[in-house]
Amino acid sequence: MSLEGENTKEAVLQALSEITDPAFDQNIVELDYVRHVRACGGVVAFDLVLPTPAHPHRAILQEAARQRVSALPSVTQVNVTVDAEVRSATPGRSVPSSVKNIIAVASGKGGVGKSTVAANLALALSQTGARTGLMDADVYGPSIPILMGVSQQPQISASEKLLPLVSHGVKLMSIGFLAGDGAPVIWRGPMVSKLLQQFLSDVDWGDLDYLVIDLPPGTGDAQLTLCQTATLSGAVVVTTPQEVALEDVNRAINMFAKVNVPIIGIVENMSYFVCRHCGEREDIFLHGGGRRAAESLGVPFLGEIPIDPQICSGGDNGTPIVVQYPDSPQSVAFCGIAAQVAVSLSRMASETPAEPEDLLRVIS
Ligand SMILES: Nc1ncnc2c1ncn2[C@@H]1O[C@H](COP(=O)(O)OP(=O)(O)OP(=O)(O)O)[C@@H](O)[C@H]1O
Ligand SMILES: [Mg+2]
Repeated sequence: MSLEGENTKEAVLQALSEITDPAFDQNIVELDYVRHVRACGGVVAFDLVLPTPAHPHRAILQEAARQRVSALPSVTQVNVTVDAEVRSATPGRSVPSSVKNIIAVASGKGGVGKSTVAANLALALSQTGARTGLMDADVYGPSIPILMGVSQQPQISASEKLLPLVSHGVKLMSIGFLAGDGAPVIWRGPMVSKLLQQFLSDVDWGDLDYLVIDLPPGTGDAQLTLCQTATLSGAVVVTTPQEVALEDVNRAINMFAKVNVPIIGIVENMSYFVCRHCGEREDIFLHGGGRRAAESLGVPFLGEIPIDPQICSGGDNGTPIVVQYPDSPQSVAFCGIAAQVAVSLSRMASETPAEPEDLLRVIS
């Protein structure tokens, strides 16, 4: 069979349709990943456009595509370019409209590592090439300035919007940038909700694929109002491994159910300890509460993060572990969670009909 002429594209698409994306359990042609098939002589080139740059099987899909097409008769060279196009899980409803997906990071109780998870999740998404922001909605105890190592006052743009600060490639906004060091912050519920609205509408976020929101701890009225204010695509619930945490997780999940926000999954933080000398893993708490909670509540379990001095010190010195030690097993765990979050949002987006204007954007 020759690959010249009209048959080329068809033969390439036929070969590529034999590759299944395990994250979606569908073939990559049906998933509309394959674009711009070109052929000249024995050289074939095409693009694979994935639904997220954080796709966990990016390299495997690229290699499989290269191999399948290389195996076609008379093909001498294959050039595969991988790109990504993130779609909104809340098409036409996102506020601001330039932000495709808003992810809340929440917990039923304080101190479980929400801010640490939110910061490392945002950084892990950004490291894949996604345009990412991190908004600190914890007005009572903002941690993002310290975690991300920034404390300047934000500038105001010509259109009178607050310009987010940028750290390690992630756009940031926090009341900590505005209130000054150690200033006592006394907020009543309506003020909190107004502030969050302003953080969404009066901050010049620009085009973002993902905006991660670090919520204040707990599941009271303030948190509920916050969740109603933003068009959340989904929520990540952070817990610790103890059995008692199940009740807190349950409360957080109920809160999101009240405002119809899908649960992306549960993260178990401070899950276990790895001895720095012998490398052996120790389950200091009764490990596995997060997974059991996820199973019994019927929501996905996204993964476990160990308790680790480098995670703590990275947060204290403004360089979270995903940036400071990107190849460490702890960072790999954060990146795995980020990939699952991104895939889950892509799945939601593919199940949600696109708004006419989103379709136009894809077509043009
Ligand atoms: N996996 C971990 N290993 C070691 N230390 C951690 C880990 N996760 C979080 N910490 C530390 O635990 C403390 C609390 O974490 P963090 O501020 O992220 O929790 P939080 O849930 O956001 O708290 P709050 O409810 O007060 O907002 C911080 O000092 C942080 O560095
Ligand atoms: Mg916090």
